[in-house]
Amino acid sequence: MGIRFDGKNRTFHLQGKDTSYVMEIVRDGYLLHLYWGRKINEYHHSNKIQLLDRGFSGNPYKDDRTFSLDTLPQEYPQYGNTDYRKPAYQVQLENGSTITDLRYCSHTIVKGKPSLKGLPATYVQNENDAETLEIVMVDQLTGLEVILSYTVFEQFNVITRNVRFSNKGSDTLRLLRALSLCIDFRDADFEFLHLYGAHNNEGQLERKPLRRGIQSIESTRGASSHQYNPFMALVRKGTNETTGEVYAFNFVYSGNFLAQAEVDQFKNTRVTMGINPFDFNWKLEPGEEFQTPEVVMVYSADGLGDMSRTFHNLYRTCLLRGKWKERERPILVNNWEATYFDFNSEKILDIAKAAKELGIELFVLDDGWFGKRNNDKTSLGDWFVDREKLPEGLDHLAENVKELGLEFGLWFEPEMISVDSELYRSHPDWCLHVPNRPRSESRNQLVLDLSRKDVCEEIINRVSHILKTVPVSYVKWDMNRHMTEVGSASLPADRQRETAHRYMLGLYRVMDTITSAFPDVLFESCSGGGGRFDPGILYYMPQTWTSDNTDAVSRLKIQYGTSMVYPIVTMGAHVSAVPNHQVNRITSLDMRGAVAMSGNLGYELDLTKLSAIEQEIVKQQVARYKEIRNLIQFGDFYRLLSPFEGNETAWVFANQDQTEVMAFYFSVLAEPASPLKYLKLMGVDVKKKYQLIGTDHVYGGDELAYVGLSIPAELNGDFQSYIWHFREI
Ligand code: DGJ
Repeated sequence: MGIRFDGKNRTFHLQGKDTSYVMEIVRDGYLLHLYWGRKINEYHHSNKIQLLDRGFSGNPYKDDRTFSLDTLPQEYPQYGNTDYRKPAYQVQLENGSTITDLRYCSHTIVKGKPSLKGLPATYVQNENDAETLEIVMVDQLTGLEVILSYTVFEQFNVITRNVRFSNKGSDTLRLLRALSLCIDFRDADFEFLHLYGAHNNEGQLERKPLRRGIQSIESTRGASSHQYNPFMALVRKGTNETTGEVYAFNFVYSGNFLAQAEVDQFKNTRVTMGINPFDFNWKLEPGEEFQTPEVVMVYSADGLGDMSRTFHNLYRTCLLRGKWKERERPILVNNWEATYFDFNSEKILDIAKAAKELGIELFVLDDGWFGKRNNDKTSLGDWFVDREKLPEGLDHLAENVKELGLEFGLWFEPEMISVDSELYRSHPDWCLHVPNRPRSESRNQLVLDLSRKDVCEEIINRVSHILKTVPVSYVKWDMNRHMTEVGSASLPADRQRETAHRYMLGLYRVMDTITSAFPDVLFESCSGGGGRFDPGILYYMPQTWTSDNTDAVSRLKIQYGTSMVYPIVTMGAHVSAVPNHQVNRITSLDMRGAVAMSGNLGYELDLTKLSAIEQEIVKQQVARYKEIRNLIQFGDFYRLLSPFEGNETAWVFANQDQTEVMAFYFSVLAEPASPLKYLKLMGVDVKKKYQLIGTDHVYGGDELAYVGLSIPAELNGDFQSYIWHFREI
């Protein structure tokens, strides 16, 4: 493991657990990409770059028609001096020119992983766990320095990358494009895999062969978004859960992004990822720096399952932080789908009482407790209790809930403002807006301008005041619209297009300040469900509400897709009432329970309305989840059957030493003349013997993996689920 520089051959060789990444400095300072993939001991140019005189690919050197940037695999390419593919960055000079020419200047190799100023990023606890290479590239004419940073992790097949722009010249520069990553593959035999979606339908998997030209996903919404997650992977044809090569990329950022693959004329593929250049323009004065967010790159030679487990392990150990990082998460009941805005303290306490009897541990008071919030038209920004609904105050209600033996949690939407609010009446210019234009509303609300320091301070103060005065042990941090009229009253005209990124920097500062000040509180992020399910937010808040869609069938796809990248412990999953409020479907309580138990279990329905039989089932689910939650939340996750490929879904949780294994099976619709089916498990140790808990049946791990389990034929009818729980004997 480590980073080696061969001064003679001017090559860098980065070695992770089972991966190698190789670069070379050629001629007078061009930095080329040579290899990324399965680990090799040493690199000797077996895949040497063959230079050819290619028509219409220009040449930086007069006397060499074979050398063109258009044909070379590069690390951080520019546009305008012979490469016609999309560049990694673009800078405008005071004279209007956008041509720069970066060349290698120097490099350093350090132990550990430096943090990124103002930005979330993966980290290491022990500096021997990683090594970081920083390559300084310089544009002689402007004095622009671009520092390319690469970290290799010892225990993971992971390389992280970020870039720092430093204006060491005397011109004011404008960054028009400042991506975090570029990687030029020397072929295009890949499929493009990503997660798309919509509100109520996040985490949908799409996988299509790469074609010529550009294929990209992006967000221009001011949030990472439900529509496209900031994740993409190039996978070899035929790659499945257990075999095949995967090159995956995840952007540690919560705002506008671009993730792109460009297949060029010679069938090379350029992958780029970073802040979306669309509507981005950053003024870099002499002496200033600009830090890009980081990209996490995962390589796997063993399919998508291994890729996901690498992301999961990395994020569980090197991204999540704080007290809750490794703590079992509480089983909660949330009143949103039970009451919406229509509640009072009696109703809340009735639900809490019922919850306590069922073994639930935390009550979460959702939207509607503040200002005059009886619907979604009013009061965002007015974070003081509505005395009409809760006459004795929030602290009193929280105390009452605690006296029942439950922890108390509270909903906020701190980044938003209603036009009908005291805050808006006193600060109409505190929202994102542009002069003399209407302010488009979405869910009747506007977005506070977090690029402003005063606005951030106000949010910190208001949220902190509640957390100091009310015994809150959990916060649900919601965000329910995307940005429009992106502009800030506090920025000059030539910095208006910095607003969206400055918002993110403000948001991260606010989240950092509040979460650090209240280390005991468990924070769950939410953006109408999974609209900001990204590693940037997870750095501050260690779990996310996966989707507003609580229908068990929809959730199979949503949770399966989300698990491609994000650990199970980060996914909120609730049992809700039927007919389901989002899709009107009626599913069994067993299936709803099994789906929600495959994440961080919670309930979101009026528990006072459960029948005696339903109460008994919920009681059993809660008791069972308490026994298995360590395995579910912190175990390894294996996907067996995909809901995107058929009527059935199955997955397995196994602890690290494979002494405990749980398999979940779901069947959506009943099939006539259904064949008898068998489920072959993953995650079992083929050398171990396992007992099926609750029975005296004992099976070899090899039998479970190679022969498979009979799926009970009596699972008849729609919306079935089945759980097997094994322990080594
Ligand atoms: C959107 C969230 O995703 C829901 O769970 C709920 O908290 C509502 N907002 C409240 O307005």
